[in-house]
Amino acid sequence: MCGISGIVSSENIAKDLFASIRNLEYRGYDSCGLAVLKDGQIQIRKNTGTVEEVNAKEQLTRLKGNVGIAHTRWATHGGVTKANSHPHFSGDEAFAIVHNGIFSNYQDLREALAKQGVQFRSMTDSEVFAHLVEQAYEENRDVEQAFLQALHRVEGAFAIALISKHMPDTLFCAKQDSPLILGIGDGKNFIGSDINAFLAYTKQAVTLDDGEYAAIRRTSYYIKKVGTGKPVKKKMLIIDWDVETTKKGGYSHYMLKEIFDQPNTAKQALQIALSEIKQLVHMINKSKICYLMGVGTTYYVALVGQYYFAQFADRYIATGSSDEFQEAAVVTKDDLVVAISQSGETYDTKMGLGFAQSHNAKTAGIVNVMGSTISMMVDHVIMQGSGPEICVVSTKAAFSQMIILMRVAIEIALLKEKITKDAYEEYYAALNDFPEIIERVLNEQSGFVRNLAVETSHIPNWIFLGCGVYYPIAMESALKMKEVTYLHAEGMPGGFLKHGTLAMIDEKLYSLFFIPLPEQEELHKRTLVAIEEIKARGGTVLGFAFQNDEKAEKLLDYIIQLPKVHPLVAPLLELIVAQLLSYYTALDLGRNIDKPRNLAKSVTVA
Ligand code: AGP
Repeated sequence: MCGISGIVSSENIAKDLFASIRNLEYRGYDSCGLAVLKDGQIQIRKNTGTVEEVNAKEQLTRLKGNVGIAHTRWATHGGVTKANSHPHFSGDEAFAIVHNGIFSNYQDLREALAKQGVQFRSMTDSEVFAHLVEQAYEENRDVEQAFLQALHRVEGAFAIALISKHMPDTLFCAKQDSPLILGIGDGKNFIGSDINAFLAYTKQAVTLDDGEYAAIRRTSYYIKKVGTGKPVKKKMLIIDWDVETTKKGGYSHYMLKEIFDQPNTAKQALQIALSEIKQLVHMINKSKICYLMGVGTTYYVALVGQYYFAQFADRYIATGSSDEFQEAAVVTKDDLVVAISQSGETYDTKMGLGFAQSHNAKTAGIVNVMGSTISMMVDHVIMQGSGPEICVVSTKAAFSQMIILMRVAIEIALLKEKITKDAYEEYYAALNDFPEIIERVLNEQSGFVRNLAVETSHIPNWIFLGCGVYYPIAMESALKMKEVTYLHAEGMPGGFLKHGTLAMIDEKLYSLFFIPLPEQEELHKRTLVAIEEIKARGGTVLGFAFQNDEKAEKLLDYIIQLPKVHPLVAPLLELIVAQLLSYYTALDLGRNIDKPRNLAKSVTVA
């Protein structure tokens, strides 16, 4: 995730541009830079570090000019270096661009450009765009057409902005699956990855939709479709009247924003103090029976935790759905009940905790909302710090809870000498690498997943299957699909299929498999057996498959290909892409995504 911004004005803009990326810094903070146009020349200043550090090094605010673009980076393609920081020049320095997202076909483009003699200054995917515009401009001598031609050549998820010395009064920008908003001011206009980029200067905003581009001048702007060139009329959004929209940060729905938030959510979960984690470890180790309890999504989080505790820490943990807890659990003063709740206000979970406390059991919680009832009720609470989750459908909060449970499991494993210090460090390295992988996969896969969703959204009945820890991941993903699309999706373990559900299989029932890494041999084999059972009966099978899984590839009708990752995080990567599939299916079906019918964010009633 990166932040981009731009201003077209008649005054010096460097200070305002700098302020805009400071306000976007939560989106990325490993490097930043500004490009400003003055007297027909573009000047770029950029470097690595936070925006304040870069300003101290490069005197960003001393630049002079009245049209400019800015960027604050969270590196994906190309390391954290000055050269890889944005903005990027074209070869002739007549164009400068800033980019958020990933051009998924950049390698092909880069190779083609290099063959034509283009010299690259950076290792980024972004720079190709500046060269493509330069090339197109050489042919047609029209900045807008050159910008459009370049847009037609790139694929992936992106928001992009461009300034040119050939058209010094205009800023061009476009978006596809990455946020970008226009800010309409008095005698100056703005763009930003979200409203924070220009909120200090104007409350009037216009959202750009996917597949649209805009030309911004000081006192005017227009928006057109990239594909047809047709002008698009937009409603002006007065931010005071619709604060909700601004918080979406340019995404069409909170659900999409929150799915894309997850690289940060992972980082936040990893930043929770080890002492907090260890306190829970201590309580678990002291308890006779430890229950993980939640309801709906958080029950599936508990199940994921159960697998991680068994596999990594060799510790059996009981799980319970909060709504059934009082009937199914037997709790004594020697036991521990860990409640998992995003809101901290869920009635069933509060009741389950109350039941535990009435039997003098110890209690703990993993909670997102500070000051919530559950966070106050328990003996020890781990605050997730995932930030507000506004979509009724839980994505990032549940994901964070799973990471926290992983950390607890790994800690127990080390303490009990079930794993070596080396293995412990390897797990942490896998977790620390994970945010960047999620970011890349989300950007690279969103186009493919959206097309797949459009192709399959007419299927009314689904089964989602997985073996081992992929089973609760399948359950949670099926719940997501149900909630947001209103379609029927049933989750179950792969091995369960032949014990009844096989009777339902025909070409109309689609299955989605959460396939393990091939090196998770036993699980992988069991999963493939289940796929074959469906294929043999004429069913249609979709599946997540990791790189080089030829056996799975041969069997699947549709493959959602994922890069090879550490087995610890592999199920969570599938979970995240499954969230995206549910989102795009719901989008295609025109559902009320952030507020699905009949649901509420926090279920505070019996
Ligand atoms: C999640 O998508 C659901 N809306 C729902 O199952 C939710 O997880 C459940 O109600 C528990 O909520 P909580 O995390 O706020 O306790």
